[in-house]
Amino acid sequence: MRVTASAPAKIILFGEHSVVYGKPAIAAAIDLRTYVTARFNENRRIKIEARDIKTPGLIVSFSENEIYFESDYGKAAEVLSYVRQAIELVREESDRSGKGVTVSITSQIPVGAGLGSSAAVAVATIGAVSRLFGLELSPEEVGKLGHRVELLVQGASSGIDPTVSAIGGFIHYQNGSFEHLPFMELPLVVGYTGSSGSTKELVAMVRESYEDMPEVIGPILNSMGMLVGKAKDVITGEHGVDLKFGLLGRLMNVNHGLLDALGVSTKKLSELVYAARVAGALGAKITGAGGGGCMYALAPKRQSEVATAIKIAGGTPMITRISRDGLRIEEVER
Ligand code: MEV
Repeated sequence: MRVTASAPAKIILFGEHSVVYGKPAIAAAIDLRTYVTARFNENRRIKIEARDIKTPGLIVSFSENEIYFESDYGKAAEVLSYVRQAIELVREESDRSGKGVTVSITSQIPVGAGLGSSAAVAVATIGAVSRLFGLELSPEEVGKLGHRVELLVQGASSGIDPTVSAIGGFIHYQNGSFEHLPFMELPLVVGYTGSSGSTKELVAMVRESYEDMPEVIGPILNSMGMLVGKAKDVITGEHGVDLKFGLLGRLMNVNHGLLDALGVSTKKLSELVYAARVAGALGAKITGAGGGGCMYALAPKRQSEVATAIKIAGGTPMITRISRDGLRIEEVER
């Protein structure tokens, strides 16, 4: 038997970092996906074939105490810990803990770009392996297991990335609970800096600042929480679409400034943000943990101008759409 599942990338529209402190955030799944095929193998090993994960190719297998690298590796190695934990958690949840499993991964999501590649690979792996083991998990349950994987691998995580990847669409998220927001076609442009930040290190850096100066950092996090509340009101309110986009753009700019104040922006990220605004975006901000990775812009009727400006400023633009689908079981071959 062989099962293929896929899960989408995400962008955080508002509220990254503050969401780790119990504040709300708004995120959407986007139309870049990771595909994972799972099958049993003859030995008791977990074998991971990362054939194309937008980093150099890699095939690795591990048994109890050994890791076998079968080809080059690089940033791809980071992805492995998420895949391994995902498989082990599903093995624990089932009665098949001794079974060997081989998973093959292909992905359209650049690794380390702040687009949730780790969460997508964890969610797709949990989806494929749980179905292989005969477990019937709902997308919510897969999202919760994905959150456990993130906690095991990166220490701190709000759970927003695996939740939106498992559920899909456009969500408001707080403290492990989510609600769908009305679906909106957002004219977005994502700009990739080409470098990656470590979510684990950036979350730890913000934690340190908060612990060293809670009276300064606390109000920034509170303000982020308030602006997410305002963004939710705008999205669910009765305004016309132009007014909605205008208000959301301004809130994005405020959110970017506050993320910069937390120290998670970089020169390159801010250059792409300003290039997008100058080219006519209504708003532009970091998306995800920062420290490199991606920014996004809201650019009604100006997507191609903004994409060109991001390119001229040295970034890689991607015109993306929100994906209604979260985790999908693509194929079950018996
Ligand atoms: C990462 O995509 C978002 C962060 O808020 C971390 C998290 O929520 O787990 C930086």
